[in-house]
Amino acid sequence: MIETNLADLRKTYSKMELTERSVTADPFEQFGKWMNEALASDLPEPTAMTLATASAEGRPSSRVVLLKGFDHNGFVFYTNYKSRKGRDLAENPFAAMHFFWPELERQVDISGRVEMASAEESDAYFASRPLDSRIGAWASRQSEKIASRSVLIKRVMKVVAMHPTGHVPRPPHWGGFRLIPDRIEFWQGRPSRLHDRICYELADGVWRHSRLSP
Ligand SMILES: Cc1cc2nc3c(=O)[nH]c(=O)nc-3n(C[C@H](O)[C@H](O)[C@H](O)COP(=O)(O)O)c2cc1C
Repeated sequence: MIETNLADLRKTYSKMELTERSVTADPFEQFGKWMNEALASDLPEPTAMTLATASAEGRPSSRVVLLKGFDHNGFVFYTNYKSRKGRDLAENPFAAMHFFWPELERQVDISGRVEMASAEESDAYFASRPLDSRIGAWASRQSEKIASRSVLIKRVMKVVAMHPTGHVPRPPHWGGFRLIPDRIEFWQGRPSRLHDRICYELADGVWRHSRLSP
């Protein structure tokens, strides 16, 4: 029997505020500012975010992935193109990324259209990964059912045997995606649930921000 009382758990958010005037006009700059503060705050996984995708029928799914880069062109993560998320993105290119930094009482919600990163970009990042991770990318058929863990270990051993020199190229089914946002929302927790929300939207090539009701 599961009997846990969650309803009475409450936290007050009171660390910082976010105002229309304190944010930068450019949402990428604002994200950079918050990411730098997250990186400087010794958080366990500051680059980890929840990536939400949906199938062509609109069935949503989400999972944690790591942000590996961002600039004015978008937000980049790497994965298996044949995974559930990869299949979702092939049939429905819209996605959302969600960062939650509880120690800073902050969240950021980014959404837009996703494109595959170029082969050159994926190659360069893949080459920078540790050898074990490069082997794993070949060995794992991400999101597929697998009979046992030993099947996976056998596949790892086979990949190792096939690459005796340790040169493991990028598998064609593995690479980067870039989310090109048209909406970025910054949320700062405030007392009494009267949180600060500043939302940037892109219209006619111009980013404008406004305050949203909490
Ligand atoms: C902290 C953390 C970081 C992760 N980073 C990645 C990542 O960068 N890329 C990735 O494909 N999976 C990553 N995963 C695993 C995913 O959450 C997920 O299990 C996997 O990608 C399969 O998802 P899918 O079946 O929905 O496609 C990470 C998991 C955690 C908990």
